[in-house]
Amino acid sequence: MKRKFVVANWKSNKTEVEAKNWFAELKVEDLRLTNKEVIICSPFTVLPILKSLIINHNSNIKLGAQDISPFDEGAYTGEVNGKEIRELAQFVIVGHSERRKNFSESNDVINAKINEALKNQLTPIICVSSLEQAKALDNKVQNNTQVIIVYEPLFAIGSGIPDTPENADQMAKSIKNIVGEIPILYGGSVTSANINEFSKMPNIDGALIGKASLDAKEFYAIIQNA
Ligand code: PGA
Repeated sequence: MKRKFVVANWKSNKTEVEAKNWFAELKVEDLRLTNKEVIICSPFTVLPILKSLIINHNSNIKLGAQDISPFDEGAYTGEVNGKEIRELAQFVIVGHSERRKNFSESNDVINAKINEALKNQLTPIICVSSLEQAKALDNKVQNNTQVIIVYEPLFAIGSGIPDTPENADQMAKSIKNIVGEIPILYGGSVTSANINEFSKMPNIDGALIGKASLDAKEFYAIIQNA
């Protein structure tokens, strides 16, 4: 049976109190036996509290950051580097379309971030919205089992209108033809009602969930249904 990934992307949401309340609502004890890989990508500011909650509850949930500096440590005001992230998380989202658009991230910057992640033993969760973006990824991504790719069509992100499972599966297959045998997730308006349609497709290994992951009960249902 294939390994399924259920990844929450909280984006720029949740204070410490809100993160604690979310965690308390999630029923983490019931999730301990799940064979799905559950990853929460939170703002940097709440990674420390989530890390201690996970340890205290003996939970197998993993953590991810949502960005990484393209540089090593040093004089880069405002940046958080891979070595720092590694203390708190095992994963990091790279190349999300919101960063490509709102922060003008180029393929070169994205590849530098992927390199920093790999150098620091972090798994980059790389978002692409087209085959061109998949083709522009650094060669280090090829057949690399330390990498996850997410296919996220622009029209589906935050719109409430997901891609069709058939089209998403076809895109995942085409991406695998470019990058080799690595896990490919689908992202864009995933909910507890539609996750299974995607995760059961032969080339899709799970999902990246934005808005619907902000509600703990809904996220719990997404994990169950994946
Ligand atoms: P959405 O976001 O689930 O709110 O559509 C997905 C994403 O941008 O990662």
